[in-house]
Amino acid sequence: MRSKIVAGNWKMNKNLSETKALLSELLEKLPKTEAKVIVAPTYVNLESAARILQSSDIKVAAQNMHFAKSGAYTGEISADMLLNINVDTVIIGHSERRAYFGETDDLLAKKVEAALANNMQVIFCFGEELEERKSGNHFNVVESQLKNGLFNLPAEAWQHIVLAYEPVWAIGTGETASPEQAQEMHAFIRKTITEAYDTSIANEVSILYGGSVKPSNAQEIFSKPDVDGGLIGGAALVADDFIAIIKAI
Ligand code: 13P
Repeated sequence: MRSKIVAGNWKMNKNLSETKALLSELLEKLPKTEAKVIVAPTYVNLESAARILQSSDIKVAAQNMHFAKSGAYTGEISADMLLNINVDTVIIGHSERRAYFGETDDLLAKKVEAALANNMQVIFCFGEELEERKSGNHFNVVESQLKNGLFNLPAEAWQHIVLAYEPVWAIGTGETASPEQAQEMHAFIRKTITEAYDTSIANEVSILYGGSVKPSNAQEIFSKPDVDGGLIGGAALVADDFIAIIKAI
């Protein structure tokens, strides 16, 4: 069901002590909100985070997972390992995974399929690079990322999917897509899903915006009708900033 979501992707930041400190500050300051609040610490701290947040309103997500059940995949983590520490949500397809770790649309489709087969929730990320926007190719790029990553899924699977549109040029650069650019793309995403499936799936899926969201711009971005929340990087590492973004929704 479409809901408001603020998710913090901590990327490769925060050791265990820092993770505990940030979580306890978040728990202390978390406002009452109807939005779902999610944090995604690094693998090694997921179990601690899941324990600390067990009876709280903050959910824990992993930043990645492998598609195989188990086996000879050095350095990788399976769905079963995540579920066994009470983590049932996973970010798949982040542009940093695509760019630095060679994750292709085909691989991502397999990961999504594996996560869903294990009854997990998926936050699926996609978005164009600067050159692609400059050349006016951004709609095509986003359409093909969606198609290749998700459009092989049966209709029922979509209730377990959250989308995160993250234009690569806006990630960690301080340059945010304007609220109008975000709205334009989010509306395009719903149109694309309507064409591939139907209006009810398109209207029910939550679409988050990610890329330099901060306390000063969150409210304006979140005010757009097709923006259901944010996937936050840098600002999620500072409790007061993340809390301010949650308040903005
Ligand atoms: P920043 O908010 O640091 O730009 O990162 C966004 C992001 O990549 C979240 O997944």
